[in-house]
Amino acid sequence: MSNNLIEVRNLVKHFEVSKSVFSRNKKIVKAVDGISFDIKAGETLGLVGQSGCGKTTTARSLCLLDPKTSGSVNFYNPDTQNMESIDNIDEDGMRIFRRNMQMIFQDPYESLNPRWTIKDIIKEPLDIHNIGSFNEREEAVMEILRTVGLTPPENYLNRYPHEISGGQRQRVSIARTLVMKPKFVICDEPTSMLDVSIRISIMDLMLNLAKELDVSYLYITHDLAVARYMCNRIAVMFNGKIVEIAETEELLQNPIHPYTKRLISSIPIPDPKYVRERYEINFDELDKIVKDNPNEQMVDVGNNHFVATHETKEYLIES
Ligand SMILES: Nc1ncnc2c1ncn2[C@@H]1O[C@H](COP(=O)(O)OP(=O)(O)OP(=O)(O)O)[C@@H](O)[C@H]1O
Ligand SMILES: [Mg+2]
Repeated sequence: MSNNLIEVRNLVKHFEVSKSVFSRNKKIVKAVDGISFDIKAGETLGLVGQSGCGKTTTARSLCLLDPKTSGSVNFYNPDTQNMESIDNIDEDGMRIFRRNMQMIFQDPYESLNPRWTIKDIIKEPLDIHNIGSFNEREEAVMEILRTVGLTPPENYLNRYPHEISGGQRQRVSIARTLVMKPKFVICDEPTSMLDVSIRISIMDLMLNLAKELDVSYLYITHDLAVARYMCNRIAVMFNGKIVEIAETEELLQNPIHPYTKRLISSIPIPDPKYVRERYEINFDELDKIVKDNPNEQMVDVGNNHFVATHETKEYLIES
């Protein structure tokens, strides 16, 4: 068995948008343009790339918040112990899918209902999925509040989202997500709205919970330094496509794609005396790989490291 939790093949999501407010002409935005990856049980895959490259669109398509345009997504159904396509799930399958696949959003304030107490917010998914008895649900809320470090839980149960800090709100979002004991969680920039001082504590919490609760993440960020801290593997996304994917240290030590090199060269180094070499876009290494593998879209360069061969020169030199 491959122990994959999710297998994504040629996922495409295009949006049709008007060219201007007054125009009837439509244009197609290729937000996600044929991406493929797997995530194994217990693994965290980082999806990294600049603003607008299609990270959130990928997440929303995977979670079925938006329908994909084409491509296939298979997920592991723990009940049947098989990989199943999200395209032909029946009602029961959908319930299982939703229970096992959760999402944590960037803005904890927007994702929490401001009129509900913390207790109601965390308990809602258990109510919707009818998990446990009344007392078991109350106990599950207390337990998950302790797990995410909101202690003593009695102090938080009856508060509203606006009565707690941003970091605590994100802890509530994490609690709400994990109270369902999902196997797979998509995290879309979960710390980017938080103060730098509390980011690391939330990241540590998520890392500990992944181990404790045996959860895998697809961790979306525009920041390679964050991905390095959080992820076993990193997929670099540019213009709706994955340009390079490898284990974290392999990618950072031996980047091949010019876009990956550019991202790496923008990681801040906390040493004021350090002068970084100026980064020049150089396609030589990639050009050679393309020439040697004329028919492959993603070339395996060894060490579980893949680089894409599609044309990016024009966009990269322009940007
Ligand atoms: N509902 C939509 N309708 C039309 N275009 C959209 C829609 N959602 C996203 N897009 C476009 O798709 C592209 C990818 O957007 P997406 O939000 O996935 O990027 P992102 O990588 O998450 O960026 P960020 O880092 O800023 O969050 C962008 O060009 C965006 O304008
Ligand atoms: Mg986004």
